[in-house]
Amino acid sequence: MKRRLFAGITLCFAAAVCLASASGALDESIQDADANRRVVKTKQGTPVPEELISLSVSDMRVEYHSSPIGMDEPRPRFSYRVRPNGGAWVVLDPETTPPKHQTARRIVVKEKKTGREVWDSGWVESGETIQIEYEGEPLKPFTAYEWSVTVKDEKGRISESDDTCTGPYYFTSTFETGFLGTPWVAEWIGTEPHSENLQPVPIFRGEAPAVPDAVEARLYITALGLYKPYLNNRDVFEETTTSLSSGDPVCMTPGWTDYYHRVQYQAYDVTELIGKKTKNVLAIYLAEGWYAGRISRLWSDGNKPTYGDQPLLKAELHIRRADGSVVKFVTDKNWKYKDSRYVMSDIYDGEHFDSTIDTADRPYKDAVVFKSEALDRIAIEWNSGEFVREREKLSPKSIRKLDNGTWIVDFGQNFTGRERINLHGNAEKDNVVRIRHGEMLNPDGTLYTDNLRSAKATTTYVGRQEYEPQFTFYGFRYLGIEGFPESFGNAMPHIELTERNVHAEAVYSGLRRTGNFTCSEPLLNLLFKNIVWGQKSNFLDVPTDCPQRDERLGWTADTQVFANAATYNMDAAAFYTKWLRDLNLCQSPEGGYPSFAPDQYRYYETKGSDFFGYASGWSDAGLIVPWILYSKYGDRRVLELYFDNMLKWLDLQERKSGGTYIVDNAVYADWLNMDANLSKPFVSTAYFAAMNTLAARIARAIGREADALKREEVFRKTKAAFRARFMDENGELKEKTQTAALFVLDFGLCDEKERKNALDFLVKDITETRKLHLSTGFLGTPLLLRVLTENGQVDLAYKLLLQTSFPSWLYPVTQGATTMWERWDSWNEERGFGDVSMNSFNHYAYGAVADWFYETICGIRPIPDDPAARGFKRFRLEPQPGHELKSASAHYDSMYGRIESGWERRENGLVWNFTVPCNTTAEVVFPCPADKVPAHPGLTRAENSNVFLAAPGKYSFTLPLD
Ligand code: BGC
Repeated sequence: MKRRLFAGITLCFAAAVCLASASGALDESIQDADANRRVVKTKQGTPVPEELISLSVSDMRVEYHSSPIGMDEPRPRFSYRVRPNGGAWVVLDPETTPPKHQTARRIVVKEKKTGREVWDSGWVESGETIQIEYEGEPLKPFTAYEWSVTVKDEKGRISESDDTCTGPYYFTSTFETGFLGTPWVAEWIGTEPHSENLQPVPIFRGEAPAVPDAVEARLYITALGLYKPYLNNRDVFEETTTSLSSGDPVCMTPGWTDYYHRVQYQAYDVTELIGKKTKNVLAIYLAEGWYAGRISRLWSDGNKPTYGDQPLLKAELHIRRADGSVVKFVTDKNWKYKDSRYVMSDIYDGEHFDSTIDTADRPYKDAVVFKSEALDRIAIEWNSGEFVREREKLSPKSIRKLDNGTWIVDFGQNFTGRERINLHGNAEKDNVVRIRHGEMLNPDGTLYTDNLRSAKATTTYVGRQEYEPQFTFYGFRYLGIEGFPESFGNAMPHIELTERNVHAEAVYSGLRRTGNFTCSEPLLNLLFKNIVWGQKSNFLDVPTDCPQRDERLGWTADTQVFANAATYNMDAAAFYTKWLRDLNLCQSPEGGYPSFAPDQYRYYETKGSDFFGYASGWSDAGLIVPWILYSKYGDRRVLELYFDNMLKWLDLQERKSGGTYIVDNAVYADWLNMDANLSKPFVSTAYFAAMNTLAARIARAIGREADALKREEVFRKTKAAFRARFMDENGELKEKTQTAALFVLDFGLCDEKERKNALDFLVKDITETRKLHLSTGFLGTPLLLRVLTENGQVDLAYKLLLQTSFPSWLYPVTQGATTMWERWDSWNEERGFGDVSMNSFNHYAYGAVADWFYETICGIRPIPDDPAARGFKRFRLEPQPGHELKSASAHYDSMYGRIESGWERRENGLVWNFTVPCNTTAEVVFPCPADKVPAHPGLTRAENSNVFLAAPGKYSFTLPLD
């Protein structure tokens, strides 16, 4: 939200509220006897009349973005939060009732320049503050809009000034449209046609005229490849904003989409960079990236590129003049290019930069304009996801030199990003510095790179200054640096590599943190930290399996199992919404969702759907991820948009089962389990059943009752087929693994007797056979603790979680892991490194367990099946404090506001504090008998139930210990 909002508040409250004063909170409240009315008083002594206490609005977002530029959604959805006026700035008299709920709202949208109103929602009686769809006149392209919200609280108090203030009291924010479907004038340009990769990175140059009366400028740009623009020698990524949500420099644009169908463009406000008197020179690097680099070729026949042969660029610079007219400068045949000093750059192999190359000597060549039907089919869409950015700087934790002269730099953290090396211009000659990246060290202290497979993951730098690779990223904790100078000449005859010469930038999509968890068990805290780093490392425009080896793909099972935890840790709404579009575009015509998305190989066209094609548990991300977005963010649109595709996928499987309802497309089954394989039909049929149940819930959420009934019918048939095939006459599972039992229990594939058998088996297998260890793979693990909890085994769930011996979640932590490992046995004391053919130390899938930290340890959960509860308008608080922990706490920033829940065992009882944000209601189940719950203002008990309803506010209880 723009700063002017705060000016607005100041204006409204006149001198009443001293806003967010540097001194912080206000701490005094008094009775104003003269006026006989309640006031609150600031530290500075300025009273606030009670009638001015109403709701204030914050965190205004459009399509999940804060003040986006280049937003092309024709019916954007608005969201905001409300809280008592002044929020933390005002402390009310205890008898004053602060507003707790919004009862009505009004949204007005105006064109920013003209002030012309394009939508007035009128007063709508509603408590919802999220996902409010624009219903005004059609939005115009390249137009800035201002939107404002006015709200009423439960006493009818409007967030508007009374006669002590001037002007309406409302909250404003902005958004700006981009092309909105209008055609681009710019053309796709590239170098001379070629089909080889690992080529020098060209730099393109275009000279726009000077525009003396320029008042505003935008750069709209995209690439089939990766671009990095400079305007008048100034770095557009470093010096402009794309929205107000984050100032970290952007990189790896335009990101990775299903390039067969679409590419995203980005819009930058370059007003400050534009020259009014001189020409405006655009210089743009263009690298191969995801489009034409090795990642688009490796698994295709003969290393042929799959999207297109070579990278292409398209850009429009729009310069608005004082009279409102726009000068457009666009990529076309008049542009020039030459090879830059980036000798090579590739996502898998790394980057080679040679600063000694004198590019001035290189003549410019004419850019080539590319036209084809295939190019015409690629829609250029707005950047609905989150920009990838340089998010965190990491300094080395240790640096040492090996006998062979190689320096080993340890950042103390496995992560995704790039190193920045700096010779401070001191090097005597132009050294060739070669930097390799690794996640682990070999026993002899050298860098372990075997698990990178064919990815060279190497930086080669020739030069004396500062340098950081630009068009690639690495997954690493350690650097192995060869060729670092031994001296800086006579001035410094002997030099050491120190942290002055090297640091690193963690690169990932700019998602906001929304959740945190901490508890009394340090190892669990480390596990949680590792899970968050796993998320940071694998949220680089696409949710990937891993960031280091020659893969880095949007594997769909990895995504679906982790999405629930991920959406607590970070606001992943825009990120997953963008990915879902590509997943759905990659669906095969017959209905199969791919194993990874974007699917650059389109195997179903070349090799048929069985080759890395659709797979149970993987392809089902097509249902599961939208449902998680709906549960967390109340996003009904993703369900509506993709529901028919979901049905297509389910129908395909039903058809292929030939009427038997035994489905057989579990390509990877319960991947990477610990010696506990399940047959593919078992996994496939169980998952198919579960997905029909989920489809029925989705159908109900969007009002498609007939579909819901049909899905329930398919579920019943599948369940019958499953029981006939996989259960014996005694109601015992024929295939017995922990995952098998979890599927049966969680997916409702059993009757009562079978349920008991499955649970008995599960408990026995964990406790006796495996001596308190798990054996589950990718599909079973995310269910493990929740299903145990739901079946009266919460103590066992805690024991399993806190197990430190192999295999377990904490074992890697005890071995110094700083991220999640791909395999339970990626490394162990007995056998050392696991199977090198597939062994990543930064795979988030097993980190799915973090959702249990929020949902069970601290008890924060959505209520997805109640439409009125959507997006945490109403939510569950039901912690289950384990005996192994002394304390635990978590928070989750829902779209409505921050939910907190923290408990601690003390001598006099269990202290539980929780916070219910303004404008929401919590359904609370206490971790003690309901009749032992002390009375508390704001808390009411539902009749004949152990469920309490908690109004917005902060609560603190001391409860009897069990
Ligand atoms: C990936 C996985 C993925 C799997 C499918 C692997 O190579 O890294 O995480 O889900 O293939 O079997």
